[in-house]
Amino acid sequence: MSGDFVPADPLALRVAARSGSKSMGRLWGLVRSSLVLVWSSGKRLLSALVAVQILSALALAATVLTIQQVLSGILDAQDGGRVMGDVLVPVIVLASLSGVAAVAGAVQGQLQRLLGESVARTMWGKVLGVATGVGLRFFESPDFYNRLNRVQTSAMLRPHQVTTGLLSMAGALAACVGLGVTLVTISPILLPLVVIAGIPLLITSSRESRIEFEFSVRQTPAVRLRGYFTVLQSGRDEAKEVRAFGLPAWLAARFDDLYATYLRDLRAHVIRRGLLSLVGQLGAAVVLGGTLIALVALIDRGDIGVAEAGAAIVAIRLLATQVQALFRGAQSIFESGLFLDDLRQFLALGEIAVEEDEGQEPPERFEMIRAEDVRFRYPGAPRDALQGVDIELRAGEVVALVGENGSGKTTLAKLLAGLYQPDGGRVTWDGHDVAAFRPSSLRQRIAVVFQDFVRYALPATDNIALGRIDRPVDPLRVRAAATAAGADSKLEGLPHGYDTILSRMFTGGTDLSGGEWQRVALARSFYRDAPLLILDEPSSALDPRAEHELFATLRDALRDRTALFISHRFSTVRGADRIYVLHEGEIVEQGTHDELVSRDGRYAELFRLQSQLQIHGEPAAP
Ligand SMILES: Nc1ncnc2c1ncn2[C@@H]1O[C@H](COP(=O)(O)OP(=O)(O)OP(=O)(O)O)[C@@H](O)[C@H]1O
Ligand SMILES: [Mg+2]
Repeated sequence: MSGDFVPADPLALRVAARSGSKSMGRLWGLVRSSLVLVWSSGKRLLSALVAVQILSALALAATVLTIQQVLSGILDAQDGGRVMGDVLVPVIVLASLSGVAAVAGAVQGQLQRLLGESVARTMWGKVLGVATGVGLRFFESPDFYNRLNRVQTSAMLRPHQVTTGLLSMAGALAACVGLGVTLVTISPILLPLVVIAGIPLLITSSRESRIEFEFSVRQTPAVRLRGYFTVLQSGRDEAKEVRAFGLPAWLAARFDDLYATYLRDLRAHVIRRGLLSLVGQLGAAVVLGGTLIALVALIDRGDIGVAEAGAAIVAIRLLATQVQALFRGAQSIFESGLFLDDLRQFLALGEIAVEEDEGQEPPERFEMIRAEDVRFRYPGAPRDALQGVDIELRAGEVVALVGENGSGKTTLAKLLAGLYQPDGGRVTWDGHDVAAFRPSSLRQRIAVVFQDFVRYALPATDNIALGRIDRPVDPLRVRAAATAAGADSKLEGLPHGYDTILSRMFTGGTDLSGGEWQRVALARSFYRDAPLLILDEPSSALDPRAEHELFATLRDALRDRTALFISHRFSTVRGADRIYVLHEGEIVEQGTHDELVSRDGRYAELFRLQSQLQIHGEPAAP
């Protein structure tokens, strides 16, 4: 598999941010892709927003023209004309224009809200698509979580922000052109001065964007940790233990500490950003002041009349606001651009996920599955979790895997389930390397019950039918699977039978015991109807009778399927066709129960230990 996750360390991102700032071409590419995205998320909404924006710009231009008319009306009146007649109409127009502007503003706000949610929907789809599509090993990487976290916020906001930034830039630009033309007609040298006033803002605002992005990258790990402490304090699964161990005060203190640190950093950041912004604004104000002084000089020299000067002041004031809006829009786009680049790199991980659907179709059934000299190490781990592992699973067999904690049983199960690829050696189906098979199809041939299976807060039927989501739910098969796993009578007896939600989180729901949950998880794997079943400690929470019944009927439930099961209980292991003993990532023994006991090795020792424990642990008979 290609596409190893490139760690997104803050330094690399900073470098990327810096070089990104130089590449306007790339920025333009991001702007374009944002526009395409927003357009595809809400064509009508975006069109309506553009229309409203144009309307606002027109209203603004008309406002300036009308103000001029009002002014000239008043000046005429000073020269002896009639004020009411000349001024009344423009004043009414002015009032209507401000009404139009107000309505347009309100409509714009609501449209933006709707468009924002539409974009968020599209982006959630993409981001979660990547999150569920990437290989399991990504979930071993803190860098992946950092980026996922950052992207979850930026994906929702930024594309939309770029679009609104562009729209407001377009509006400001239109207004600038109108006002600029007016100003040039009054005095040609005033316009360049107003434009120059924007340059300090342009410089400082691009710097502001960069420090904002860097701040976000720097803070992500701490923000995530804080998020984790929120979960610990508010999560349902955590609630009982947090209370039982009296953790609330400690958790609250840790959370508060993290927040305090964040606030301190934020304060420093805000001051830094504020100072930069201040420098920009001051620069702009100085240039603007110079413009006004130039204006006074022009009046002084008699180059410009009083009425024109009045109009020029209004125009300069409005123009300065619009120029600022223009640069603010550019800044927000630039800032979003850095986040969007981050997002783009994250979404590119999804291209790896596409490989899920590439490769040969694996056979429906197999005669023999083998792990051949398999070696595996978790990313960043100091030692191999598995080394030189050879095992065989023949069709129809029940094979057991035993070993002490941390010996590598679950890891081997994940490799056989196609969730990880071995670093050395290979897994074969009838001699074919599974690496050549289409991963999604391979997994369809395998059912797994993990040690830490998921308890879906969904109806019982769904909890079982999720085992085979590519087919319509078959209630009869759901019941058959539940019966085989010994869960049928319990589920049937629930308030709404199989429709009962298995969680107290939702109205009408209930919860099950640990053993009952385990049976539901087993039923899910039976329902999958796959030729290979991998059960990682499927009976650890079952009572002795349930466990006995499960294994007495396991062969029936399996029919001609093959099962690999992992267990610490030798009572269940002894019936297996073959037993493998794992020790520190290596297979150290294999054979049937009797063979292994008579060999008197590690298996025999563990077996004796457990039998003694059971004899001594048993309560005296009454
Ligand atoms: N995600 C991981 N990242 C790094 N190391 C891991 C990871 N998961 C497990 N390990 C390590 O790999 C080794 C094998 O773990 P594995 O979960 O396969 O053991 P196991 O035999 O299933 O143990 P148990 O009986 O406790 O379930 C252990 O040393 C463990 O600490
Ligand atoms: Mg395990």
